[in-house]
Amino acid sequence: MTSTVTAPPAEGDANLWSQTWAPICRSDELPRGAVRGAEWLGGRVVAWRDAAGTAHVQSAFCPHLGADLAVGQVVGDTLRCAFHHWEFGGDGRCVRTGSGDPVPPQARVYRFPTAERWGLVWAFNGDVPLYELPEFPVPAAELHWKTVVMAEHYALDPWVFLCNTLDFNHLKVVHRLRFDQDDPDADIDWQPHSVRYRLKGTRLDTGDRTDYRLGIVGTNVFWLTGTLNDRPMHFMMPFRSLASRRSTAYGIVATDRAGLAEPEAEALLDRFLAFEHQILREDAPIVNTIRFRPGALTRSDRALARFLDYLRTYPRAHPAAEYVI
Ligand code: FES
Ligand SMILES: [Fe+2]
Repeated sequence: MTSTVTAPPAEGDANLWSQTWAPICRSDELPRGAVRGAEWLGGRVVAWRDAAGTAHVQSAFCPHLGADLAVGQVVGDTLRCAFHHWEFGGDGRCVRTGSGDPVPPQARVYRFPTAERWGLVWAFNGDVPLYELPEFPVPAAELHWKTVVMAEHYALDPWVFLCNTLDFNHLKVVHRLRFDQDDPDADIDWQPHSVRYRLKGTRLDTGDRTDYRLGIVGTNVFWLTGTLNDRPMHFMMPFRSLASRRSTAYGIVATDRAGLAEPEAEALLDRFLAFEHQILREDAPIVNTIRFRPGALTRSDRALARFLDYLRTYPRAHPAAEYVI
């Protein structure tokens, strides 16, 4: 079987973006009363934490004269613009103007559905989330975990990198993984907002043994759970689209707490991270130079071809288009 397929749209094509949960900043970068700007969806947003401790993600530019709210201040349960002291609530509405003039009815910023999990502040590109934040099969309370920045900047869309997950050929060639099984094409769990499969194998160069369930959540989170050299390992790599063909990525690495002293668990997390960083280093020369263009695909590319279908039909929208500039 050989087929030629067209590429899924790039993020930001026709000003449409994948409707996914995206990591905006680390929770520990946002103490109570703090505000931070961040690039997302080809524009700018702010994350801020109100006096009660709730995090909010909103469009960054004030509807009065366009000051960046990232240089504003949190006052109780509002974010106050630095320029003329208009104040915005967590729902995005302006609750008062600094001058005392009545609030114009259209005076609002866009508020994204916001959640905190795994040490990250996440926001969903949509009025209402289409799916839940990704979890591991083990409750967080039973895990030892940490969150890091995996890569500050990639010059490509998250889904282009994440096509690797369904690209079994490259797992064998680039990452030297020998599968214990045939390619798992028949056993891939395709869902509207995720794809997952089971993979067992051995790295031919290092001898590391992997036994994973792994996949993609949305179009921007690499996810796996299983064992590395028989130790329980869970890993997530959520990407955020800064702009078209520009992204940043965090990593959440975890192991089961059971029976592990803190230093031992910490050392294990570092080993898992080193393993993942090695994989990223192997991918780097390719993903940093690729002009992604699916051309002649063959039989062993069929999972990848189906993932390209998943990507082509994945919901894209930009409800904040007027606000996030
Ligand atoms: S620009 Fe924000 S209050 Fe005037
Ligand atoms: Fe890879």
